Amino acid sequence: QKVDMELEAIEKGGFEHFMLKEIFEQPKSIRDCFRGRLIANESKLVLGGIRDYSNALINAERIVIVACGTSWHAGLVAEYIFEEFCRIPVEVEYASEFRYRNPVIREGDIVFAISQSGETADTLAAMELAKSKGAIVLGVCNVVGSSISRVSHEGVYTHAGPEIGVASTKAFTAQLTVLTMIALKTALLKGTIAEQRYREILVDLENIPAKVERALKTDDQVKKIAGIYKDARNFLYLGRGYNFPVALEGALKLKEISYIHAEGYPAAEMKHGPIALIDEEMPVVVIATRDSSYDKIVSNIQEVKARKGKVIAIVSEGDSLIPGMVDHTIEVPGTHEVLMPMVSTIPLQLLSYHIAVMRGCNVDQPRNLAKSVTVE
Ligand code: G6P
Repeated sequence: QKVDMELEAIEKGGFEHFMLKEIFEQPKSIRDCFRGRLIANESKLVLGGIRDYSNALINAERIVIVACGTSWHAGLVAEYIFEEFCRIPVEVEYASEFRYRNPVIREGDIVFAISQSGETADTLAAMELAKSKGAIVLGVCNVVGSSISRVSHEGVYTHAGPEIGVASTKAFTAQLTVLTMIALKTALLKGTIAEQRYREILVDLENIPAKVERALKTDDQVKKIAGIYKDARNFLYLGRGYNFPVALEGALKLKEISYIHAEGYPAAEMKHGPIALIDEEMPVVVIATRDSSYDKIVSNIQEVKARKGKVIAIVSEGDSLIPGMVDHTIEVPGTHEVLMPMVSTIPLQLLSYHIAVMRGCNVDQPRNLAKSVTVE
């Protein structure tokens, strides 16, 4: 027993929980993910894992992404990136829905299966169904040699290292890294992205670990905010564009480990329902970094404030407008908007972590949840 506990303490590397360790590991895990694959100053992107199917990807008429949980959120970000740069229509499906509804899959469709563990039963079954209908199935897994990686035709590992905390953190940012690289490479080969733009984003991607490092410096500030809202009964998370999946992921993190009810919404959908929930008791986390939907999200913040909601805004460094409108601001470094989720998700991971700790929850092993769900 004593040996086990000491061993665990060593594995946690001085952090109180695996989740916190894994959150702080992200500058490294993202770098490990693109190491040997990305050399920005040479405009080089090598993805050996999908070499045989890169033509199929370029010529695909459609991409379907199947996943569950946090991996599904990574899929949503990937949908936006693939559509923007590759001009290929993408659908993102919950693996559990896809497999039971007789989906339309044609020969040559590309199906991405995203999974940290590589063992999620529904994702595995969805892939097998897609394969039986003639699709090319590409895996994005963290665990090397896992079932999903073996069933895939080809795939790209995320190389984030073992993730122990049930709430996925570093696996998510590594999935985003891999999916971004695949989309950029495909777009370049397809000729749907200007070379200049391609090069700029590669440079920005290489700088992401340093930006995540800076975003982690918000920890003390986030902890203070956690102290103010730890007893809230509900939370709303809003984002638009690339930050919409980040809102979903932020809400999922909070639910999973602190047992506070939280919902993520695309900010413009607020007026179709959730706005009715807003009063002075309701904390609303708005991801409002500088991007193409900035002006729109500013009006969404005004709508929340007009109903006396408490706004915690994630903004870009140097934002001088939003801090004057909201209750709390957390600044993160800016980057190209397609890469923003990797940075904007960091304070949300920290927020859920600190709230859960303050509420006395078992952060690494929340009730009723499993790290990998191998049952239907
Ligand atoms: C479980 C885990 C989540 C994870 C999901 C999908 O619900 O608790 O953290 O996102 O499964 O798992 P996968 O291993 O397929 O990414």
